[in-house]
Amino acid sequence: MCGIVGYIGKRQAQDILLPGLKRLEYRGYDSSGIAIILPEKNTISVRKSPGKIRCLERLIKSKPLSGGVGIAHTRWATHGAPTKANAHPHTDCNNEIALVHNGIIENYETIKEQLIREGHIFHSQTDTEVIVHLIEKFYKNIPLEEALRKALRLLIGSFAVGVISTKEPNKLVGARSGSPLILGIGEGENFLASDAPVVLDATKDFIFLDENEVAVLAKDSFKIMDFDGKTVFKDKVRINWDIAQAQKNGYPHFMLKEINEQPKIIENLLNARINKETKKINFEEQNIPEENLKNIKNIFIVACGTAYHAGIVGKYIFESLCSIPAQIDVSSEFRYRDLLIDSNTLVIAISQSGETADTLAGIREAKKRGAQVIAICNVLGSTLTRESDGIIYTHAGPEIGVASTKAYTAQLTALYLFAFYLAGIRSVLPSSKINKYLCELRKIPKQMEAVLKEQGVIAKLSRKHANLGSFLYLGRNINYPSALEGALKLKEISYIPAEGYAAGEMKHGPIALIDEYRAVVCIAPWSKVYEKMISNIQEIRSRKGKIIAIASHNDKEIKELTGEVIYIPKTDEIFSPLLVVLPLQLIAYHIATKRACDVDQPRNLAKSVTVE
Ligand code: AGP
Repeated sequence: MCGIVGYIGKRQAQDILLPGLKRLEYRGYDSSGIAIILPEKNTISVRKSPGKIRCLERLIKSKPLSGGVGIAHTRWATHGAPTKANAHPHTDCNNEIALVHNGIIENYETIKEQLIREGHIFHSQTDTEVIVHLIEKFYKNIPLEEALRKALRLLIGSFAVGVISTKEPNKLVGARSGSPLILGIGEGENFLASDAPVVLDATKDFIFLDENEVAVLAKDSFKIMDFDGKTVFKDKVRINWDIAQAQKNGYPHFMLKEINEQPKIIENLLNARINKETKKINFEEQNIPEENLKNIKNIFIVACGTAYHAGIVGKYIFESLCSIPAQIDVSSEFRYRDLLIDSNTLVIAISQSGETADTLAGIREAKKRGAQVIAICNVLGSTLTRESDGIIYTHAGPEIGVASTKAYTAQLTALYLFAFYLAGIRSVLPSSKINKYLCELRKIPKQMEAVLKEQGVIAKLSRKHANLGSFLYLGRNINYPSALEGALKLKEISYIPAEGYAAGEMKHGPIALIDEYRAVVCIAPWSKVYEKMISNIQEIRSRKGKIIAIASHNDKEIKELTGEVIYIPKTDEIFSPLLVVLPLQLIAYHIATKRACDVDQPRNLAKSVTVE
């Protein structure tokens, strides 16, 4: 939920750490801070500020810090309000050690009481501060990394930390257990970061730390060890994302840029996964043997938020295309259920970041019961991908906007392709039928472009409804999850109460909500349930509800029922979730911008939820 970055090298650390923090801001943005070792005086100087990174930037502009070793942090408060005192870095009693932390320490109160009894002075209400005082307690004539290992062994919870000390000013130490941490390997300089885009402009070579590992960085060397001090050798991973991908490229918001990237991303995914000649679908990172996949008896999908909505579409797809029973659950429920799964179960974990704590816990529970796990994920080397048996990368590029958009359609596309792959190897669908579907799927990128060409019309329609008090989103069958996704997008960036509902449930309660002060977005492309959606629309109309319909081109009937129609190109109903979601994303975006909301960094949210 927070973002950390560290630097050791020949350049001014503040010139690396500040831009790095800005690229981490989507992870948490209620306060931030930086600590740098000043080589002349061999002291640690700390600057902290509540509010956005620009507040810290102003502070440093007025009082710059000169030194080549430093750590920095952007916070998403869990323990202690977003104040200057609670902002990271935290220092020890003698200001000789500074530390930044991402995660939650569950047993911090008992440790804190003990340390206070031993005379340590605390300045914050955070859980984090106990770590730096624990290091201080053990840091007597031993290296910093050893004192850190001793401290970490006493902690219960999740953490990624960065630590510096004036006692060893040419050293930057990091460690992880439960929260992501990577090393950026440069020429004469090295980096610590919560994720790769942070330092992509300085290096493309990264090392992903695994659970319970400590890294010791110097200007031109690094070493990694486990929590017992045993050296660990790891390969570098090259990430060929260019920094431009992590910038707005002229768009006012990352979210709008990412919405408009979707046609190209889906086209690239289809080109990469479908062999032009043989039409064979390939998943190079998917290591589960075909034999195993042929013998699976059921599929269980586990995910959170938007990824969960993609998973519900997946459930419909696997049942109708592969004739495999498929269940889905939100990860936070899945992980505590008495799961009836075994080695005949394929668990598909969907996650943009690959670091969502509940989804990670979910797959660990599944693996304990012998299930095979496939990760559908967007981040190379993330924890989920390293703990799963097979991986299907969504290759959507870095997704910076907190509200997930392009990762969602990339997840859907991965699910369609995996379903056709399964249907093929299990001989459920003849290749002629699969090829016919693939032809239809290949039209989607162009059809997405056609929808995005109308974004001006969608913007005008959306802004007209920006002052309404609440929204209802209705869909049926494979577009029921589209209704859930539309409502989530509006909720998370405009803060307007919105509910997604299976339209067939209307008469069982929600229809009581209908009146002229509420908008109802009805998702009604051509489908086997189209007529049912039309009757829902008539029910709402007769109760003066404001209807915005998403319909297939040339649908004149729906136009008569409601003046406000957003048309999408006609496609096979099974692929319609890929098209209907674009207007849903844009409705949320334009209403939120009309209400002057911070679209890329909505209040109270963070891009990846790495704590339970
Ligand atoms: C979606 O817009 C939200 N950012 C959130 O619901 C997100 O989908 C959820 O936290 C899951 O994240 P993940 O895909 O990285 O696991």
